[in-house]
Amino acid sequence: MVGSGSRRIGVGLLGFGTIGTGVVKVLQQNADVISQRLGFALELVRIADLDTETDRGVSLDGVRFDSDAAGLIADPEVDIVVELIGGYDIARRFMLDAISQGKHVVTANKALLALHGKEIFGAAKEAAVGVGFEAAVGGGIPILRSLREGLAANHVESVLGILNGTTNYVLTEMERTGEAFDVVLKRAQELGYAEADPTFDVEGIDAAHKLALLIGMAFGAELTYEDIPTEGIVRMTPVDFQLAQEFGFRIKLLGIAKCHRSDDGEESIEARVAPAMVPLKSMLANVDGAMNAVEVKGDAVGPTLYYGAGAGEMPTASAVVADLMEIAREIQREGGGGPVSPLSYQAESIRPKAAVSPDEVEGRSYFRVSAQDEPGVLSRIAGALGESGVGIESVIQRRSEQGGMVPVIILTHPSSEGALRRALETLDGLDCVQAPSVQIRIEEDV
Ligand code: HSE
Repeated sequence: MVGSGSRRIGVGLLGFGTIGTGVVKVLQQNADVISQRLGFALELVRIADLDTETDRGVSLDGVRFDSDAAGLIADPEVDIVVELIGGYDIARRFMLDAISQGKHVVTANKALLALHGKEIFGAAKEAAVGVGFEAAVGGGIPILRSLREGLAANHVESVLGILNGTTNYVLTEMERTGEAFDVVLKRAQELGYAEADPTFDVEGIDAAHKLALLIGMAFGAELTYEDIPTEGIVRMTPVDFQLAQEFGFRIKLLGIAKCHRSDDGEESIEARVAPAMVPLKSMLANVDGAMNAVEVKGDAVGPTLYYGAGAGEMPTASAVVADLMEIAREIQREGGGGPVSPLSYQAESIRPKAAVSPDEVEGRSYFRVSAQDEPGVLSRIAGALGESGVGIESVIQRRSEQGGMVPVIILTHPSSEGALRRALETLDGLDCVQAPSVQIRIEEDV
């Protein structure tokens, strides 16, 4: 254990597969921001994996890498053990071994927690060590942290969402292509979206594991995934998607949990994982492909929505490393370190940074110009834009309004903010333009 006043925390990684490699990348590539926020460094000390031959494409300078998991757990340089082996038995044993030796643990293994969570959390409480598992639900989405911290003042009324990326990809593709479940699943496997054995995903079990964890965090309720009625997507056929569309719906595999409170304060939990029809206009209906989204409704805050990559190397590693940082802060605090910096970065890491000049920002714009409806006006408008260096992507001219004015709508090519501003000034200086033109920027990245 790192002692009082020490400024380094040692990390040991059990399992050097896809997510493990992502964790190494995040720790290395983002070492600057991690230490600027923590005020000290997180040091990857050791990695253990049975496969010590495969080149993972990351530098392991200064990192001990072998197949000795027990040695890693016992290593006094290792303060936090990250379990990324997956599965049940070995992962459980390593987690419990690490905890019994006073090591904090971080995992992305929802199946393990769904089955052995009570034992692991109990052991961690007894040993007074932290357990981080943000990556177990929603991949990179900080949904557990939001429930634990940001929404902590609420009675949570419901938690529901798309908790499995594989099935969301399959459903999205079935709707888009009209192809059968088996055909789309095979393609998903070829593209690496679905596992060779996709049972946990397509039968809804993975979503149920995650929902059980969410229920614990949201309602303080002890419910195992086996208590959750679970239905997968294997019976969906192309006709279901066509008819859903006709009725104004889209089919999504949802994990749903609601807390019912009786007048005398008794609480009961409604929970299920099942394909559901959601209105086409709803936000969840528009979560496509392998993305995840979770809606949490609190009695004070109302509905909130969390969206992002529910799986994948770097998004999942992002959540694992956030857990490492949280536990590392806790270790430092116990050793006499101060509280978490209120601005996220340590005060000494916050310094002025140059503001990008608006003239350097590029984007497309919509212009609405109120022009006189006379011959030659359109060419003068186009000329004004051309002079300012703004290209036109398309033009629409509506019918004349009262007073012989006509709205001319222009969609520009990507142009600098400076050029767009000059164009607007030139346009508004034309005598055929009768009212200030309106500019609305097109944000492509939303
Ligand atoms: N198999 C999971 C999914 C990814 O498809 O969402 C990890 O939770």
